[in-house]
Amino acid sequence: MAVPDSLIVTRLRTAGCVFAEDEARLLTDAARTAAELDAMVDQRAAGLPLEQVLGWAEFCGLRITVAPGVFVPRRRTEFLVRQAAAVLARGDTLPPGDTPDPDGPRPPREARPGAVIVDLCCGAGAIGAALAAAVDRAEVHAADIDPAAVRCARQNLPGGHVHQGDLYEPLPASLRGRVAVLAANVPYVPTGEIGFLPPEARAHEPRPALDGGPDGLDVLRRVAAGAPGWLAPGGHLLIETSERQAPRAEAAVTASGLAARVTCSSDLDVAVVIGRRLS
Ligand SMILES: C[S@@+](CC[C@H](N)C(=O)[O-])C[C@H]1O[C@@H](n2cnc3c(N)ncnc32)[C@H](O)[C@@H]1O
Repeated sequence: MAVPDSLIVTRLRTAGCVFAEDEARLLTDAARTAAELDAMVDQRAAGLPLEQVLGWAEFCGLRITVAPGVFVPRRRTEFLVRQAAAVLARGDTLPPGDTPDPDGPRPPREARPGAVIVDLCCGAGAIGAALAAAVDRAEVHAADIDPAAVRCARQNLPGGHVHQGDLYEPLPASLRGRVAVLAANVPYVPTGEIGFLPPEARAHEPRPALDGGPDGLDVLRRVAAGAPGWLAPGGHLLIETSERQAPRAEAAVTASGLAARVTCSSDLDVAVVIGRRLS
């Protein structure tokens, strides 16, 4: 790693970057020319998220391509990925053509190959990319309404299928009843709280990526309502939310007919509602 110029560090620190030294190092490593470095430091000092300046975000050990104007994958979402990988590893979701195990839950094993995984509201496709890396020969589909996000997701999921449109609408009908894991990090900030987000998010991430409606659960409710039609028997829906919103999010998943539970990470201040299609 290059030693950052102290002027760059000072410039970033003055602009309010708390980790100015680390950021200066990353920018210095990423820039191919002095002019490019100048331009990148300017963008960062003007408030663009570091990841959008670099062009990538670290997520589950992967470098996820992120373009300006696309939601930056958050490290807390790695918790959802871990839950999804655990569900797949338990083997209680059945790939197409498999028959249910009459003796109940299966023993722990590596995530099963061939599972159909859908990353809904995929943004740059970080969740789908992380699960594709974790599951051998998974059939990964991802979808988002935002064309810029879809372009990123196509780069991050070279072996996957990325669709553009409103929630389930662009998914191939052939996936109905076949999905082992349906993972979704939907917008879940209540409209009235958007103003309290850090300026980086407010100014440089698209409003539809953040705004979840009056109580933050509008999109989550639509995803929950549609999930049973796409999940395989035994398949799981996993949706990220906040610990505060989790009881209402769980109720929405239960109302859709899935058996729901909530798992939280207080360290990351995040919750995941897990719904299972029983039959
Ligand atoms: C909070 S961001 C999460 C992105 C990605 N899942 C991640 O964790 O990095 C929510 C995403 O949902 C997408 N979105 C919002 N409403 C949508 C809709 N009705 N249909 C499909 N995607 C939608 C936004 O474009 C945005 O990319």
